[in-house]
Amino acid sequence: MGVTLSRNFGSDNVTPACAPVMAAINAANAGSAGSYGADEFTERLTAVAREVFETDLAIYPVATGTAANSLALSQLAPAFGGIYCHESAHIVTDECGAPEFFTGGAKLLGLPSPDGKIRPAQLEAAIAFATEMGVHHVKPAALSLTQSTEWGTVYSLEELSALTATAKKHGLPIHMDGARFANALVRLGCSPAAATWKSGIDVLSLGATKNGALCAEAVVFFDPALAENFERRRKRAGHLWSKFRYLSCQLLAYLQDGVWLDNARQANAMAARLAQGLAKIGGARPVQPVDANEIFVALPENLVSALERAGFHFYRWPLCSISDGVAIRLVTSYATTAADVDDFLRAAQQFDC
Ligand SMILES: Cc1ncc(COP(=O)(O)O)c(C=O)c1O
Repeated sequence: MGVTLSRNFGSDNVTPACAPVMAAINAANAGSAGSYGADEFTERLTAVAREVFETDLAIYPVATGTAANSLALSQLAPAFGGIYCHESAHIVTDECGAPEFFTGGAKLLGLPSPDGKIRPAQLEAAIAFATEMGVHHVKPAALSLTQSTEWGTVYSLEELSALTATAKKHGLPIHMDGARFANALVRLGCSPAAATWKSGIDVLSLGATKNGALCAEAVVFFDPALAENFERRRKRAGHLWSKFRYLSCQLLAYLQDGVWLDNARQANAMAARLAQGLAKIGGARPVQPVDANEIFVALPENLVSALERAGFHFYRWPLCSISDGVAIRLVTSYATTAADVDDFLRAAQQFDC
């Protein structure tokens, strides 16, 4: 049975595409256009992305975040390489081995931390270990970090720069999984350039689907020289759509006129409202700081079950190690309204005992 959108806090993927993206698809749906990316939308997208990120980048739209991450990493790491990432990274837990498949077997080396962020000292120690092990260990090849993280936290620019500097010191290129990059960006309140290449990021998986696109993500290389032969990787992976305009026009609408920022601001504001409200629920305990649009909170089992019975949808999050109660994840999106949040909070107050 479907869940009403207003009661669905399961993910930011449960939303419809936003109006500007749908309007752009409709507008693109006329006349002929060059195929396989030789169209005016793709050309304009490159120009707009260069403007937005203030650099001479190369951008490659694909249809899913898994493709963006896996293809980006396959460009950075050889089959005998090691990719440092957080142990809870989407590439580790949720991509069915696609990064390993597309890299031809590179090893994902998950580093632990309670909040989804990798610390420079951890990376340093892991690289030192690899160096000591020599030929017996995979060769340190890349760092992949997620912004905002899988735990809803956001690296500050200082944290980002310290981490990427450590990776660069050892010659590792840096990939950012930006499935929720816009949410991090509005949280940081800085320019897209400052949040990426000026902070040491070489390749970004730019997410758009969770934040209002129908199905569009992109691999962005801030140094186009790093993208050599990437077009062939994308084609080989089946992500070079013949009617490519439908992919590019979504990203164009997303990046133009601040749509991505407006959408992310709404999602983050609703998460903050929800977190503030939850703080007043006696049985609720925050599990993570709420920096973007995901909330991890521990609630008593009877409250969680009552909310589920009332038709609210969210995920129980067994990865949280809490001693009592149930940890759940609530996600807000551009489509979440203040009324949706207040409705949830009213129900939580009512069932709290
Ligand atoms: C952190 C992160 N990266 C990437 C993705 C993209 O995954 P998909 O292949 O489902 O588009 C997601 C989606 O859940 C995610 O949460």
